[in-house]
Amino acid sequence: MLIKNIKQLVQVESSPKRLVKGADMGKIGTIDNAFLLIEDEKISDFGSMDKCPECSCEVIDASNRLVFPTFCDSHTHIVYAGSREIEYIDKIKGLSYEEIAKRGGGILNSAKRLQAATEEELVTSALERINEMIAYGTGAIEIKSGYGLSVEAELKMLRVVRRLKELTPVSIKSNFLGAHAVSAEYRGRQGEYVDLVVNEMLPRVAEEKLADFVDVFCDKGFFTVEETDKILNAAAKYGIRPKIHANELDYSGGIQVGVKYNALSVDHLEYVGDAEIECLLNSETMPTVLPGAAFFLEMPLSPVRKMIESGLPVALASDFNPGSSPSGNMQFIQSLGCIKYRMLPEEVINATTLNTAYAMGLSDQLGSIAKGKIANVFITKPIPNYEFMPYSYGNNKVETVILRGKEVR
Ligand code: NIG
Ligand code: FE
Repeated sequence: MLIKNIKQLVQVESSPKRLVKGADMGKIGTIDNAFLLIEDEKISDFGSMDKCPECSCEVIDASNRLVFPTFCDSHTHIVYAGSREIEYIDKIKGLSYEEIAKRGGGILNSAKRLQAATEEELVTSALERINEMIAYGTGAIEIKSGYGLSVEAELKMLRVVRRLKELTPVSIKSNFLGAHAVSAEYRGRQGEYVDLVVNEMLPRVAEEKLADFVDVFCDKGFFTVEETDKILNAAAKYGIRPKIHANELDYSGGIQVGVKYNALSVDHLEYVGDAEIECLLNSETMPTVLPGAAFFLEMPLSPVRKMIESGLPVALASDFNPGSSPSGNMQFIQSLGCIKYRMLPEEVINATTLNTAYAMGLSDQLGSIAKGKIANVFITKPIPNYEFMPYSYGNNKVETVILRGKEVR
């Protein structure tokens, strides 16, 4: 496939990087009046139109349109049964996330519904969400378990994710989040629940090779540093790398314990001080901010400018889930990045493509326009420039999506 007359080809790399950090987050490569050649699911060439090759293949004319690598959404919970708009009303009336959780709402509400749902129902509803995410330009998704909270229901969720990997051209990674909340059955017996995760869930998950990553909600009111340490230590024995929920509700120590186990990412990060920044600077861990959840729950904002100015990389993901971020629109995440966190358009582009690809262990294959990478790209509607993407918030600027070299919409 040849895409020609591209007004601007965005996020091009001649020598691909694994991630971008610090001042480099403010830079992206672009080519005006460009072509992009795709062969066998991969990007085989690109450049300016004066070097455009002849080809007897499918040709798309992208006049007045921009081409981007698709978004990588490195943190979602899109396998779930039923929405939670009634809790949303409690939230509007002033109840906090923790208060709703304490009342048996929140994650436990989703767990009850998930346990009652069949694998088939879960696959169908998750596929609808994935198709909507594709329409908004997403081409890679990390999906967590964590609404099962029993051995069988956690395995069911992860089997659903395995099915999704087969059913869609989107690149999917699975994350075992048995320690998302203590199940209703184990209320008051948190230590025993952690033992269930370590001694029964993890071995089954590992045996069936159901998880690419392991997660723990390490935060005030959820799991402690010691419990997180125990789970990550057990996962390390199976060679499963962590990507964890940390520092959303407090300075929880989650960042430090994540870095101790060489987490690929630590996510949320509303509570980040000098000690956390120092710890992340000496690590291979991607700090990942979830602006949708902070917006929806009106939480304090992660100090993203300070993190970038300290030299850190930052990734932005949707956290698509029924409780704290019921949207997988990564274009809106870019807009929130700019408005709420004072990130520049170049920074949010890096944060939603290359850095989230890194946070999924996929930056050698996805996240930028580079020769040999998987041809996951979108073509915009006619728009003036890349700055227009975060500026024009709430609107879908994506017209055509190509995944693995094939037009999917
Ligand atoms: O990432 N923070 C923890 N877990 C999810 C919320 C899940 C829920 O409320 O259902 C999150 O925001
Ligand atoms: Fe989450």
